[in-house]
Amino acid sequence: MRRLLPDPAGLDDAGLVEAYRLPPGRALRVNFIASLDGATTVAGRSRGLQSPGDLAVFQVLRALADAVLVGAGTAAAEGYGPMSDDSTVSRMRVALGRPATAPIVVVSRRASVDPSGRLVGGDADSPTICVTCEAADADRRSALVAAGVDVLVCGEDDVDLPLALERLAERGFEHVTCEGGPALLHSALDAGVVDELDLSIAPALVGGGVRLVGEPLADIARLELRQLLEEDGMLFARYSVREPGPR
Ligand SMILES: NC(=O)c1ccc[n+]([C@@H]2O[C@H](COP(=O)([O-])OP(=O)(O)OC[C@H]3O[C@@H](n4cnc5c(N)ncnc54)[C@H](OP(=O)(O)O)[C@@H]3O)[C@@H](O)[C@H]2O)c1
Repeated sequence: MRRLLPDPAGLDDAGLVEAYRLPPGRALRVNFIASLDGATTVAGRSRGLQSPGDLAVFQVLRALADAVLVGAGTAAAEGYGPMSDDSTVSRMRVALGRPATAPIVVVSRRASVDPSGRLVGGDADSPTICVTCEAADADRRSALVAAGVDVLVCGEDDVDLPLALERLAERGFEHVTCEGGPALLHSALDAGVVDELDLSIAPALVGGGVRLVGEPLADIARLELRQLLEEDGMLFARYSVREPGPR
């Protein structure tokens, strides 16, 4: 891995961690991989775009996170489970002086997490959290609570993302890494809660597929390039999201 911006240098594993470290305080960073034409999937999953370098960045962002936020669609499509306490990420976390695991926080208006699915139950050190809203079916919510899911109700008809992040921060989950998907990114941008986009840009053209942000945003999100890394033709851009202001 090499850094192209701001100061060109080779990066070893420790250097890659430093390249993505956040200052103390609250932050929501969003991690995505996309092709040059903005596709985030090949045949419905992001795997077709990935590379070893992208996996390394993904692992670093998980290692640095207090919690991993994900939309219910992505959790289902990508087969999410709880973070394992015996994995590359958990070993990185321990080496960084952090708890071995962090919770997976699934955002779902309908509380659609499967109470008997991979994300639920077991003896996970960090139980899954489901962020939902009052409008979600009460039986579904109760079934999740009974299955050991921590259900956070934030908002009435829809999930109130600023409130959800507030509630997570109150529990000590300040650095949140969001792993998508596009619908969640869209609402997080519209809600003005995204601080950073960590985008892996795959040197590929896919056509069709699920776009990074599907429907038009209420307002264009303006980003500022903070850092650019490269490995095997894959670019790893770290953008900060600018406060909305005069254009
Ligand atoms: N390339 C990448 O880096 C990347 C990353 C992530 C995902 N993906 C791909 O994206 C696809 C999934 O796309 P998607 O847009 O459906 O994913 P998504 O945003 O993960 O999931 C959409 C679902 O999540 C819930 N949700 C999202 N935002 C919400 C909000 N603000 N409030 C309440 N609920 C919210 C809703 O669940 P309920 O219906 O349960 O209410 C909604 O139906 C998959 O194919 C996946 O592989 C690619």
